[in-house]
Amino acid sequence: MKTVSICFVCLGNICRSPTAEAVMRAQVEAAGLSKRIFIDSAGTGDWHVGKAPDARAQQAGHARGYQLAPLRARQVSADDFRRFDLLLAMDEANVENLRRICPPALRDRVRLLLEFAPHLGHREVADPYFGGSEGFEAVLDQCEAACQGLLAHLQTQLAREDDDA
Ligand code: 4NP
Repeated sequence: MKTVSICFVCLGNICRSPTAEAVMRAQVEAAGLSKRIFIDSAGTGDWHVGKAPDARAQQAGHARGYQLAPLRARQVSADDFRRFDLLLAMDEANVENLRRICPPALRDRVRLLLEFAPHLGHREVADPYFGGSEGFEAVLDQCEAACQGLLAHLQTQLAREDDDA
């Protein structure tokens, strides 16, 4: 049975990408696809490596039933472009940083997360780090919508690969 691996990417890996990871994990579990969709997250920067998600992200996520506490920040590595079928960046700066270190043949693997929620009318998940709690709620809203679109996309892809097998 085919599997797919995805990695959410932001700058610090303590606010947006761990939130997306926890939201996607919950949606994938609810869809019964935990054994077929592997989920991770990483940051383009190294300032917070080894740290748990930002307390505000943990709190906002917990209030909606998502578990961020066990996650630990790590930095993107060159190996991630081979390991993951999709690297889902939160903003254009993340895309630029990823493409700079990505092997040219694997560039298509780098996408913006909000491509999977075109109805929102935004390309970027705004960085909530220097703002108030409303920023973390906005991140959750955007991640919930985009992960739904992403999950539907992956379900279609997995079904097509099952048919081809
Ligand atoms: P994230 O947010 O990229 O969503 O994890 C940030 C976390 C930390 C910093 C910036 C953004 N920082 O400047 O330390």
